[in-house]
Amino acid sequence: MDILQLKDKNVIVMGVANDRSIAWHISKALFDAEAHIIFTYRKERSLSKLTKLLADYDDSRYSIVQCDVNSDDSMTEAFTSIGEKYGTIQGLVHSVAFAHAEDLKNRFVETSRDGYAFAQDTSAYSLIKAAQLVRPYMTEGGSIITMSYLGAERVLDGYNVMGVAKAALEANVRYLASDIGQDNIRVNAISAGAIKTLAAKGVPSFNKILNKIEEAAPLRRNITPQEVANMSVVMLSALSTGVTGEVIHVDAGYSILGI
Ligand SMILES: NC(=O)c1ccc[n+]([C@@H]2O[C@H](COP(=O)([O-])OP(=O)(O)OC[C@H]3O[C@@H](n4cnc5c(N)ncnc54)[C@H](O)[C@@H]3O)[C@@H](O)[C@H]2O)c1
Repeated sequence: MDILQLKDKNVIVMGVANDRSIAWHISKALFDAEAHIIFTYRKERSLSKLTKLLADYDDSRYSIVQCDVNSDDSMTEAFTSIGEKYGTIQGLVHSVAFAHAEDLKNRFVETSRDGYAFAQDTSAYSLIKAAQLVRPYMTEGGSIITMSYLGAERVLDGYNVMGVAKAALEANVRYLASDIGQDNIRVNAISAGAIKTLAAKGVPSFNKILNKIEEAAPLRRNITPQEVANMSVVMLSALSTGVTGEVIHVDAGYSILGI
């Protein structure tokens, strides 16, 4: 029985930069579920990494489109071309975030107006714009997921302006879920535990965080990217049709702890 019901479904995946990207792990799980993937990338460097990663996959299973989430024109062009080519889209993975390094390194109180706006635009507003642009093509209903982090809910050393952007992202999930639920489109966030990726390198205290989680989390370990990918597939699939507006923690239980 095909319980996932993702076979031949069109899923847009935003945010593969390299083989460590959470979005790449999700993509491998989606390929296993026989979905068709439309990748979006920002920089040529990501395109060349993506092309290499996809070398072993049948090119009828995917396509690749450029999309810079800081630009309305780029996003509109990307989603229009995807929609015109594929007609119906069933899933969207938003796995994109960015903040200036100085806004993560400096004290939070030093956050600049530009740095704040840039982190919000890239990491939180981009979900609203993506939902706005994909909605016309989710004619059979759909599922949108985004990646959040505990820094949205708690103060984590060095996460600073990105924590505030993730708080906005999680609120966006609830407002979007409420607004487009009537179109049978679900919107959920996965709050992932710490994973060593390119984006994580920007967080100065990252190794300290990994050690602390291993010591204290209920499961006494860090999570694997595959665990985030598995939950992502669940949230994109027919297994989760009753769930929307949620933030699902895949974090070895760390977020339930007090001190
Ligand atoms: N790694 C972790 O520990 C962790 C934990 C929880 C949540 N997350 C979140 O997961 C998501 C994916 O991050 P990752 O850890 O896989 O790192 P990553 O660096 O592999 O992915 C981040 C992606 O964002 C893309 N991006 C940044 N600015 C963009 C723009 N203007 N337009 C288009 N794309 C842009 C990058 O190209 C990259 O592909 C992010 O939202 C991140 O905050 C990561």
